[in-house]
Amino acid sequence: TAAEKGGYDWFMRKEIFEQPKAVADTLLGRYDADGALTLDEIRISAAELRRIDKIVIIACGTAFYSGLVAKYAIEHWTRIPCEVELASEFRYRDPIVGPTTLVVAISQSGETADTLMAIRHAREQRARVLAICNTNGSTIPRESDAVIYTHAGPEIGVASTKGFLTQLVACYLLGLYLAQVRGTKFGDEIALVMEELAAVPAAISGLLTEMDPVLKLAADFADERVVLFLGRHVGYPVALEGALKLKELAYIHAEGFAAGELKHGPIALIEDDLPVFVVVPPQGRDMLHDKVVSNIQEIRARGARTIVLAEADDHEVDAFADVLIRLPKVSTLLQPLVATVPLQVFACELATRKGHDVDQPRNLAKSVTVE
Ligand code: G6P
Repeated sequence: TAAEKGGYDWFMRKEIFEQPKAVADTLLGRYDADGALTLDEIRISAAELRRIDKIVIIACGTAFYSGLVAKYAIEHWTRIPCEVELASEFRYRDPIVGPTTLVVAISQSGETADTLMAIRHAREQRARVLAICNTNGSTIPRESDAVIYTHAGPEIGVASTKGFLTQLVACYLLGLYLAQVRGTKFGDEIALVMEELAAVPAAISGLLTEMDPVLKLAADFADERVVLFLGRHVGYPVALEGALKLKELAYIHAEGFAAGELKHGPIALIEDDLPVFVVVPPQGRDMLHDKVVSNIQEIRARGARTIVLAEADDHEVDAFADVLIRLPKVSTLLQPLVATVPLQVFACELATRKGHDVDQPRNLAKSVTVE
């Protein structure tokens, strides 16, 4: 009903705007006054967590993309090898998991059949299973050894928004917690990331007040048939998620590519006026940023229309962007928390303009409880 939508036309739009609170709520109470992470629901002992020699993340859809981001953060902070796999592929390939494997199942609903079957298989192999879930008491956390709940509140729109952002937060918390337990990061390093995470809700709120270029873009896109997304490092899963949102909501053929793969295929697709979104990493010491800026030049020289998401003070991209979407400054690993937001708004706005049901796209279900 209108009242439930709190004045918004769609649940999805309401949920997009709830993201600052959802992120803040998911951080709440997880960091104590002594500067230590406390994940109460992790019922796996520190001794056991120290014995873990491999992490396997399993999930479907948007949750899978949060897992792809998690791999970068978890491996960087903990030095534990981490794989990410689609839940629907996992058990059919005889995966190597055992008592020293931590299987992390990410699911907003906690009821996705593919993910549930995958954790049952993992437990049969005696792996320890940790769920990242938004739904209290749902099946996946009930069948797991441990759980980190995301506190996004109920998500009604079929296409996940605040669910995704809070999954990212939970993955960062898990990575930092493992680093703390295993001593691969020191308290002050963890404190720096926690401080940065604490500033993210305000950054998203600010970003949400600057969506005019995105809304205008959506107005121009009604007749587009193909849209590409490029990203690198954690920007790659953001590109995949941006493309998924356009498929789900606007029924547009959209693909996300790793920017570094451009020359191995996707560049052949570039032709005059093809719209390409590019997620630009923060300017930093590594070459990542400059490489992505070169990619923008390469596709633009071949006629692409470039829609560039870059940090507010990144002027190196200005000359090569047909449309610029400015992002708040955050460190590379956390950038998905802000870079995803304009892509959600874009898909929601475009689908609305095309007259589609944003909350219940055709052929999709909020939670897929059959394999
Ligand atoms: C469905 C939904 C997606 C969601 C996926 C995984 O396909 O439409 O939005 O990402 O399921 O759902 P889960 O509840 O396991 O996160």
